Amino acid sequence: MEPLAKVRVRISELIAGSEVPEDPRHSANTLEWLLKLEPEADDALQLAALGHDIDRAVEVSKVLRADFSDYDDFKAAHARHSAEMLLEILQQCGVGDPTLADELSRLVCLHEVGGDARSDLLVDADSLSYFDVNLPLYRDRNSREETLRRCLWGYRRLSKRARIIVAELHPPGAELALMMAEVVIRADKWNEPFDRRPESIS
Ligand SMILES: [Fe+2]
Repeated sequence: MEPLAKVRVRISELIAGSEVPEDPRHSANTLEWLLKLEPEADDALQLAALGHDIDRAVEVSKVLRADFSDYDDFKAAHARHSAEMLLEILQQCGVGDPTLADELSRLVCLHEVGGDARSDLLVDADSLSYFDVNLPLYRDRNSREETLRRCLWGYRRLSKRARIIVAELHPPGAELALMMAEVVIRADKWNEPFDRRPESIS
């Protein structure tokens, strides 16, 4: 098997072990969204889409929300640890391309915040996948208020183009459909209590 194919298999194997039930689907679906947004996406972007949340797939080593008072610091540590794990996988699979490794690491470190065209693309793909795949399962584990907070946080990260796409995704059930309508209305207004960062780890 080609080294890069091995990397994809290893990422998928590890994420299959995540205790967050939607993680395997979210990983594959983030890659699907990336390729819809950018059909020419290169290997670094594709591997970043597949593996950006790999930190939370391994219980014994994952970054814990409880260790951080600040949500953004927690998310940054989660992103850095995912990048470290992916670099290890590249090495284990015999991928010796330093340019690919550096760009993969950079993209994954920025996957929560973006900041340039390529990392913004990853943010869009990740957030679109949250609304496409994760949302109903997130709601099962969290209160309506927390889910609304998470949706607002995710929606505000989206580009204009991705916001148009989200409007075409119809979440299951009347409650989530109403919630998404509320998110769109509230997105440009910052009012307590929905402007605090979400608390849940996934
Ligand atoms: Fe994600």
